[in-house]
Amino acid sequence: MSASGHSDGKGFCRKMTIKISGTGSALPEKRLTNKELEQMVDTSDAWIRERTGIQERHIAEGDSVVSLAAKACQRALADAGRTAEEVDLILLATCSAEMLLPCSAAQVQGELGAVNAVAFDINAACAGFLFALQTARAYITGGMYQNALVIGAEVLSKIVDWEDRGTCVLFGDGAGAVFVEKSEEEDRGILSMVQGSDGSRGGVLYCRTRPQETEDAFAGRDAFVHMNGGEVYKFAVRQVPDCIENALKKAGLTVADIDLFVLHQANVRIIEAIAKRLRAGMEHFPVNADRVGNTSSAAIPLLLDELRKSGKIQVGQRLVLSGFGAGLTYGACVMRW
Ligand code: UT7
Repeated sequence: MSASGHSDGKGFCRKMTIKISGTGSALPEKRLTNKELEQMVDTSDAWIRERTGIQERHIAEGDSVVSLAAKACQRALADAGRTAEEVDLILLATCSAEMLLPCSAAQVQGELGAVNAVAFDINAACAGFLFALQTARAYITGGMYQNALVIGAEVLSKIVDWEDRGTCVLFGDGAGAVFVEKSEEEDRGILSMVQGSDGSRGGVLYCRTRPQETEDAFAGRDAFVHMNGGEVYKFAVRQVPDCIENALKKAGLTVADIDLFVLHQANVRIIEAIAKRLRAGMEHFPVNADRVGNTSSAAIPLLLDELRKSGKIQVGQRLVLSGFGAGLTYGACVMRW
């Protein structure tokens, strides 16, 4: 317990936290509908809608992780009324970077002209944005930096196997970014955060950086996404509600106190199952997976930006953000806007 505020159990003081002051997003122009997918693999619009709720997704043609991320950042900076030169830290969550070196965050820094910023990538798959947000929180509340751009950006269309109907119908491309800075107001900004990893189940969802010639733990040797959908589904439906309950407990709140649950948009059925477990109505669970599919680390910031721009997030509202994915990884964050 700190002398000046309430400890959240990890050494952070409630008074010393961060808030989101700007949001931005970017989606590639090209849309790919379920009907078009019917021409590509043995699937149907009805199956995809019924099992996932997805109707269409955006596919990058001329865009990259870096170009989408940079556009989302420019919009987040404009929204926050800040310039690129003012940015201290750039954290880019992605699992589909086109290049191993240099990291995508450094390329974004160059593209933005954020000459004073330190930049690096974080890969925690679909929980990546939350892990990056927590990292920014640690740096800023620790006093090392004053602010950060936290980004989730993916071009998953380049790492899915377009002949595998079990995965290619699920994913889409896009980016979302938030500008975060120190919050001086008590009870405004991030109130608590919980993260977790279970590396023993990495084989459930993986993708190599290059084709593999030797035997190893995971069967697929190509450089495409491999997923045991059923296992990920069970993991999400059990782990996410637990994680959210833990984060709420740390914040001294309950499910009934929350206005909006901004969840990773993997599958509308998963979101409905999580809502049911938490005994909360679906009106508190906004969805855009129907229009953008599963955009992994970009999903939460993309939806946040959409909700803000449409006036669905109001100052003073309490939000839960929660993501889960390969690793396996999971996280939840409670915040007051
Ligand atoms: O971002 C985090 C990572 N991913 C996830 O969160 C995904 C989590 N998992 C899921 O969302 C679901 O497990 C899926 C949507 C991937 C699959 O739904 P499911 O209800 O678990 O279906 P299933 O895998 O049990 O497959 C049912 C049937 C199978 O056919 P048989 O064996 O019953 O004849 C599949 O071969 O559906 C078949 N199937 C398809 N049929 C038409 C699988 N994919 C397709 C498809 N179109 N695209």
